[in-house]
Amino acid sequence: MKLELHNLQAAYGKIQVLWEVSLTVEEGQFVALIGANGAGKTTTLRAVSGLMPLKAGQILLGGQDISKQSSAARVQQGLGHVPEGRQLFPLMTVQENLELGAQVRSAAWQVKDQTLQKVYALFPRLGERKTQLAGTLSGGEQQMVAIGRAMMALPKVLLVDEPSLGLSPLLTKVVFAALKEINTHGVGVLLVEQNVRQSLHLADQAYVLENGQVVREGPGQRLLEDPEVQKAYLAF
Ligand SMILES: Nc1ncnc2c1ncn2[C@@H]1O[C@H](COP(=O)(O)OP(=O)(O)OP(=O)(O)O)[C@@H](O)[C@H]1O
Ligand SMILES: [Mg+2]
Repeated sequence: MKLELHNLQAAYGKIQVLWEVSLTVEEGQFVALIGANGAGKTTTLRAVSGLMPLKAGQILLGGQDISKQSSAARVQQGLGHVPEGRQLFPLMTVQENLELGAQVRSAAWQVKDQTLQKVYALFPRLGERKTQLAGTLSGGEQQMVAIGRAMMALPKVLLVDEPSLGLSPLLTKVVFAALKEINTHGVGVLLVEQNVRQSLHLADQAYVLENGQVVREGPGQRLLEDPEVQKAYLAF
């Protein structure tokens, strides 16, 4: 299912942070959105999932305008969001957290046991920790639960905000490989990342956000080789 953002504008009170955000996630595409701290990446994802009102612009999912719909309605249409900071219920078990993800959609609830098995196949560590309280998981395991919970709603397009934050290089690899695996099953992915090199490697298409505006776009591999991108985001 295709996701299109057309000229999104959004503000926190009087302070406008999105000025012109246009991008497309084609059906089944893996798209990376990169940019410095404060560029507006999280705000963009929040606008797409309906957690942040738009000042102007349009969001289309599968050709349908969802800009005015509630977050819940957007989930029903196949939009999934793995938020910044994971936002699990720490006093609930791994499995209870995952099952909550299926509750938001009746079609997903009916097949929740099959989907649970798929999530445990994707992340065997979670299968071993079904009954452990989410608050006692490591950061990487919590990220797996956050992704798994979004998968439980059977999304067609998945928004993922900084999944590698605070993770070791090894766990970052595990999480990115899982996102790629999810994508090979036809789920479109819009990935926001500070880990620019790895996300550009993964991405079919990538966009660079600066001060609330998309300033560059192209295939991930091409942006990796772009001297301006290298200077701004890949220097170390
Ligand atoms: N709740 C809020 N109230 C006021 N301003 C906010 C709020 N949330 C974010 N902002 C501001 O909006 C701008 C964009 O923030 P956003 O979180 O979208 O950036 P980001 O690209 O995700 O950054 P990071 O890489 O640090 O996560 C920043 O200047 C930020 O200070
Ligand atoms: Mg952010």
